[in-house]
Amino acid sequence: MSSFEITSACERFPALKQTQVFFDNAGGSQTLGTVIDSAGYEAAAKYINASPDNIVLGSSTTQLFRNLSYALSFPAGSELILSSIDHEANIASWVDLASRLDLKIKWWTPKTKENPKLLASDLPELLSPKTVLVTCTHASNILGTIHDIKAIAEAVHTIPGALLCVDAVAYAPHRPIDVKNLGVDFYAFSWYKVYGPHISILYASPTGLNATKSLNHFFNPSTTLSNKLGLAGSCYELTASIPAVLSYFGPNPSESWAAIEKHEGELQSLLLHYLNGRGDVMICGEKEADTKKRVSTISFVVKGRSSQEVVEDVDKASGGWGRMGCDGGTAINWHSGRSA
Ligand SMILES: Cc1ncc(COP(=O)(O)O)c(C=O)c1O
Repeated sequence: MSSFEITSACERFPALKQTQVFFDNAGGSQTLGTVIDSAGYEAAAKYINASPDNIVLGSSTTQLFRNLSYALSFPAGSELILSSIDHEANIASWVDLASRLDLKIKWWTPKTKENPKLLASDLPELLSPKTVLVTCTHASNILGTIHDIKAIAEAVHTIPGALLCVDAVAYAPHRPIDVKNLGVDFYAFSWYKVYGPHISILYASPTGLNATKSLNHFFNPSTTLSNKLGLAGSCYELTASIPAVLSYFGPNPSESWAAIEKHEGELQSLLLHYLNGRGDVMICGEKEADTKKRVSTISFVVKGRSSQEVVEDVDKASGGWGRMGCDGGTAINWHSGRSA
């Protein structure tokens, strides 16, 4: 006799515990109760203080921004303000959108190269009644600098209808996130950088959701962000593992995050103190270890030595853990020739 028992198998499917009979076609199978119970979407939304209706999960942040860029539409001549120091993931889709819809791009470039930072106070000279979208990063993936997103959102929202889209991939592993408190319209990061599965999240505020048209089949619902941009594209198995990330932070996540921030602060103090004390080292970006100003991603150059040599020495000293290359092919974008 087979060990697979049909009656107990059926009991594991909540959809089968009702009088309705499912004559489903090949659209998909019924879902196991254990999979439904894992409630990945609810957990992901809770993690950033959002409603599940306002999020979509997808294969990567790059993919989610690309989808979003096809779902936003602005009149020709409207203006986009794009941070020139973002990762390419939060640039390429918007440059492409601008060329498709004949929009004007204004580059948002920090005023100083010594400690480049995106400041809300830079925005008034870039904003205009034609501004429809501003994009920036929450923390620089190269320098670790934290940007004051709440102040940036307030500045953007002085223009009626203008939307703020934030890349939080480099910020999310280091601090807790509350999208409502930040006041952002779009906000994305990747769970694979937050100890989790290779899947990413995009949030849209009610205003952002309203501005997003559906890319889905015309006969499908188009109320939630997932309806509009999901395209059945978030891997269900990976979605189901998101609650495990939340449980890592324990019953009191804010306490855990405070401990993480403190620990990071101690580690970055040690390294920055050492680097600041050397005459032959230049730290790129924020020199202070203040955890309100930076996360623990630290860039520096050593006078008279190539980065490759430094990495090779670190590799030897750390038992093979030196890594070299350019994060996401980006570096700081203004060095790569983009200009206003
Ligand atoms: C700041 C930043 N944004 C976006 C990305 C791209 O994320 P994904 O690989 O999920 O597309 C990265 C990847 O390293 C990143 O550092």
